[in-house]
Amino acid sequence: MVNTSVTLCGIELTNPVIPASGTFGYGHEFADYYDINILGSLSTKGATREPRFGNPTPRIAECAGGMLNSVGLQNPGVDAVISEELPKLARVFHKPVLANVCGFSVDDYARSAAKLDKVPQVGWLEINISCPNVHSGGMSFGTDPSAAATVTKAVKTVTTKPVFMKLTPNVTDIVSIAKACEDAGADGISLINTLMGMSIDLRTRRPVLANTTGGLSGPAVKPVALRMVYQVYEAVSIPIIGMGGVATAGDVLEFMLAGAAAVEVGAANVADPLACKKIIDNLPAAMTRYGINDLKEIIGGAHHG
Ligand code: SIN
Repeated sequence: MVNTSVTLCGIELTNPVIPASGTFGYGHEFADYYDINILGSLSTKGATREPRFGNPTPRIAECAGGMLNSVGLQNPGVDAVISEELPKLARVFHKPVLANVCGFSVDDYARSAAKLDKVPQVGWLEINISCPNVHSGGMSFGTDPSAAATVTKAVKTVTTKPVFMKLTPNVTDIVSIAKACEDAGADGISLINTLMGMSIDLRTRRPVLANTTGGLSGPAVKPVALRMVYQVYEAVSIPIIGMGGVATAGDVLEFMLAGAAAVEVGAANVADPLACKKIIDNLPAAMTRYGINDLKEIIGGAHHG
């Protein structure tokens, strides 16, 4: 019997598989498909201070090796997330969740984080400084070490829960951003968010997405994500949640060998609502196949053989 459990900042997960923010709603929507309590945890759709309709449509497009999205942080606002969505989730999911928080100013992040800090079902805060689909805030905080540190400090001031900073791959030096977050008090790093891209419709000769650009996710980004997890693991001593194109149990093992303590699954949920269940079901066999008895023991294994 293999051991799939992992620990994230002192909280044990029965397995490392976590649906990524924005690809699994608030979780309760998936409870009709399977018992979502098999998940390690889940990361909720990012909450902003005020409700948001998001960007104009079309805002999702398939492309070779994945998909583009320019959703633009559609969500009902942090108050409705706390009063409506999280209680619905609590009825069907009985484990701590990652509450994903987005903002347009440092104060936005701090205010939303302070509210989510008081919700018992929130185990960790995942602070999204990496959304490429909004014209202010979002990714602009995650492309500058000093801005990333400022958001980290502001959030740490208002919460006692572990804070994971979610980073963008749209930078030349991911390590400097991760280090800045760690030095500012972050308890962990989530990476990667989507890579900025675009697609053009040959019939209209115009961009497919109404917002022109969007974030690329899916199998195409996996090598980039693995490389960044590997580099960040060498530089920081806080846990990493790795993500980017994870679609199989083998992908989970690769990310953990690169240095991830847990793994988020994103675009795969959009293609197949059962994706996380299939990965979890297949994980023990994949571990046996590669001679792994305890998942915790392979974290960072690719760094030392
Ligand atoms: C979005 O809502 O635009 C996607 C979220 C993100 O990329 O952080």
